[in-house]
Amino acid sequence: MSTRPSVGTRHFEAHCADRIAMVGSTIGTSEYQVGVPRWRLRGLFQESKMSTARRARQRKNRIGLGARVVRLTEKGTVMSNPQHAILTNLTKYQWYTHFSRSEGADLGAIKQALRDVRAAGVQTGVTTPVNVCLLFGPTLLADLTDDIPNDFEPYPGYESADGKVAKATQEELLLWVHSDEKDLCWETQYAFRTAVAGHMTVARETPTFIYRNSLDLTGFIDGTGNPEPDDQYDRAIVPEGQPGAGGSFCIAQRWVHDLDYFNGLSLQDQENTFGRTKADSTKLAVQVPTSHLKHVELREGTTADDATPKRGEMVRRSTPYAFHDGTIGLYFMGFCREQAPMRERMEAIYGHNGHERDALTDYSTPASGSFYFAPSAETLDAALS
Ligand code: HEM
Repeated sequence: MSTRPSVGTRHFEAHCADRIAMVGSTIGTSEYQVGVPRWRLRGLFQESKMSTARRARQRKNRIGLGARVVRLTEKGTVMSNPQHAILTNLTKYQWYTHFSRSEGADLGAIKQALRDVRAAGVQTGVTTPVNVCLLFGPTLLADLTDDIPNDFEPYPGYESADGKVAKATQEELLLWVHSDEKDLCWETQYAFRTAVAGHMTVARETPTFIYRNSLDLTGFIDGTGNPEPDDQYDRAIVPEGQPGAGGSFCIAQRWVHDLDYFNGLSLQDQENTFGRTKADSTKLAVQVPTSHLKHVELREGTTADDATPKRGEMVRRSTPYAFHDGTIGLYFMGFCREQAPMRERMEAIYGHNGHERDALTDYSTPASGSFYFAPSAETLDAALS
């Protein structure tokens, strides 16, 4: 087995942020034909398996209003809007910057900077959309709003019986920017970190990119099992009537891959690692106990059992990164209407609750991990006013 890459420190992540290697690729339409995750097709192929009646009801309930959409509940009341960046098409480049408050921080100055960053792209007059999502850890969220979702815990960290560790690096704020222009991602986060200087400290940052047709750097398609586009609001967003309605729970982790090790595995072992084929992401009929799907495809009965309905689904928005020193991996970003299913998956991956450890952890290790909550657009409006 090859030597594992060392897991970066806070200093390292901040240091190398502007020097990562980029892998460019053009996604031609022909590449959309086979095995492309459904969430990437949103807007290209809107027709789904929905019944005509349901489609008509959805059309009726969605009246476009700029970036916000008016959705009505069955009773006709207006539903809260999630932050637009979460469920919109994922654009080519991402920039993740984590912050915590410094000693003596002025909350007023932080709120002003948060207000300004929400308007990113507008002030500069650029036409390429800049998608900004503000995600809060439990402590900062509590200082901004009373609209706190149920069961919002800081990230605890995870360890397997044989010593594999997913360390906890909980911070107070994650600024997630995505755009088709990398310079706009940089500019947006730079303006924000400059505005909060003296009030917030950058803990770590990672720029990432979409690799070919949404591949992980292992060459496996990432995103196939995501909910259908029309189901994503329901699966990722806290329902009306609950604290935090219109918001979303998030797990954010930077995984470091030992690609030399993974590439040394046979194709069969690689496919058994995930439980899907490499060529077109077809689910394997037989799932070995260590397969990733055996841990994360939550079902009413046994995990990964197609005969029973899925539960606790999440909407994943993960993308790869590559640093100048050769450190590479996946920035895992998942959204869910509850936090518990994300904790359940992490426990399973690390071999708790009767599971064998996920084979994924043979070749990849998270260098960072945190839980956040992305409040609805309306809650943000009120909290920052
Ligand atoms: C290095 C980190 C990871 C890699 C490379 C990875 C890769 C993959 C791949 C290739 C698939 C199969 C195709 C697909 O449905 O997207 C998959 C499925 C999935 N993964 Fe991961 N994953 C990682 C970490 C995680 C973590 C930490 C979680 C949850 C906490 C997670 C949750 C899921 C879910 C929910 C699915 C879909 C299951 C279903 O079909 O219902 N993954 N992942």
